[in-house]
Amino acid sequence: MAIAEHMSPLVVRNRRPAGHPVAVAAPLFVLLALLAAFSGSPVAAAEDSSPVLIELTLVAGAQEKGAVCLDGSPPAYHLQRGFGSGSQSWIVFLQGGAWCGTTESCSTRKMTEHGSSKFMEPTAFEGILRDKQPQNPDFYNWNKVFVRYCDGASFSGDAEGEAEDGTKLYFRGLRIWEAVVDELMGKGMDTAKQALLAGCSAGGLSTLLHCDNFRARFPQEVSIKCLPDGGFFLDAKDLSGERFMRSVFDGVVQLQNVSKVLPKDCLAKKGPTECFFPAELIKSISTPTFIVNSEYDYWQIQNVVAPVGSYPGDTWSSCRDNIGNCSSKQMDVLHGFRWKLIHELKAAECKRDWGLFIDSCFNHCQTQFSSSWHSPTSPRLGNKTIAEAVGDWYLGRRKGAMKQIDCKYPCNPTCGIAYCLTMLSCQFGGNGSE
Ligand SMILES: *[C@@H]1O[C@H](CO)[C@@H](O)[C@H](O)[C@H]1NC(C)=O
Ligand SMILES: *[C@@H]1O[C@H](CO)[C@@H](O)[C@H](O)[C@H]1NC(C)=O
Ligand SMILES: *[C@@H]1O[C@H](CO)[C@@H](O)[C@H](O)[C@H]1NC(C)=O
Repeated sequence: MAIAEHMSPLVVRNRRPAGHPVAVAAPLFVLLALLAAFSGSPVAAAEDSSPVLIELTLVAGAQEKGAVCLDGSPPAYHLQRGFGSGSQSWIVFLQGGAWCGTTESCSTRKMTEHGSSKFMEPTAFEGILRDKQPQNPDFYNWNKVFVRYCDGASFSGDAEGEAEDGTKLYFRGLRIWEAVVDELMGKGMDTAKQALLAGCSAGGLSTLLHCDNFRARFPQEVSIKCLPDGGFFLDAKDLSGERFMRSVFDGVVQLQNVSKVLPKDCLAKKGPTECFFPAELIKSISTPTFIVNSEYDYWQIQNVVAPVGSYPGDTWSSCRDNIGNCSSKQMDVLHGFRWKLIHELKAAECKRDWGLFIDSCFNHCQTQFSSSWHSPTSPRLGNKTIAEAVGDWYLGRRKGAMKQIDCKYPCNPTCGIAYCLTMLSCQFGGNGSE
């Protein structure tokens, strides 16, 4: 494994305030459109900067199979058809958005787009889902599916419960996964020549949980690989010495009954909660997998290392919001987290056909947004963007996949801009729900 070295350490300046890249891009699009209109030229210039919205599709017949969101509504996805040389290639991308492991948090969640398709809307495809080659060099013309996350247990639960208002709560993540794959098979994925299962955050964990099962749905000669992003959650102690993340997973595993998806070899030795963590999951996965994760993943800094309540007063508020504001003592804690992450990735390092892009940028969900996937300001390792590294690995363009682990923050000069993607619920609320 190569540890990237950068010649000139650089302290990041001009960090952008928290905000969603799509929201940042929208005014730019308006400006470009206006410019084009006034100059009398076609709006071709603006075309690339603004992805179109992709309609929501409800899964047909899902309710008869009990494959439903927390509130009993049908699950959903967005599909954009591939074209040209990509028409028999498929990307299935699993949405993230934390978990719910208590009756209270699941009751709240079912009133949101993360628990009910009643609240879901069309969405823009960006990053690895973009249909333009300059922003997405290798996958732009593939069939692309964005699967909405409405079960709260990384597409893995199978149980029922009762909400606080006395109505039913459906924990049917596993049935949703199966119903969605079935439906996509009927829409042409059954004749795919190659496919990639991807996802970010809780969807990155879903990708690990379902990777081998996805592989098993295709004939052996079809090329199947997996790309979990921002999903390598650590079973680490928080600032108060508690294991907050483990308590969240404990709740999810018990309440939603996820044991059916967990690897049998792990369950023979360990408890189901331990087997829900990526460090254990990757030991059992036999499908080629490329792990994208930041060493200083801000979601994990905010929820695994320094969850609200794990530190006195507001001593950590500014550091957890912006890594550039951490004291050297606080950086020692974050470097400790990095060290543990690298240690737990050793199992992946040893696997042939696997890849690693472990950068030191204060990021989360880097494949899903054009700004971090493939743009002039994207993070790079070995001078490659994530899109280039993943493309090389998927298509076998280079001998041996990239397995790069970045040096310590702030060594990487390409970590210019970090975004806090509020839409992915950057932090759990006080009650440990989101
Ligand atoms: C949990 O799932 C197992 C199968 O994996 C099943 O036998 C059991 O009945 C389920 N428990 C509940 C409470 O639904
Ligand atoms: C970081 O610190 C600077 C001053 O050193 C301050 O202006 C800024 O608001 C801080 N940012 C956050 C997110 O706390
Ligand atoms: C890095 O890659 C870019 C193109 O992606 C290229 O223009 C540049 O020369 C490369 N830099 C080095 C140092 O290899």
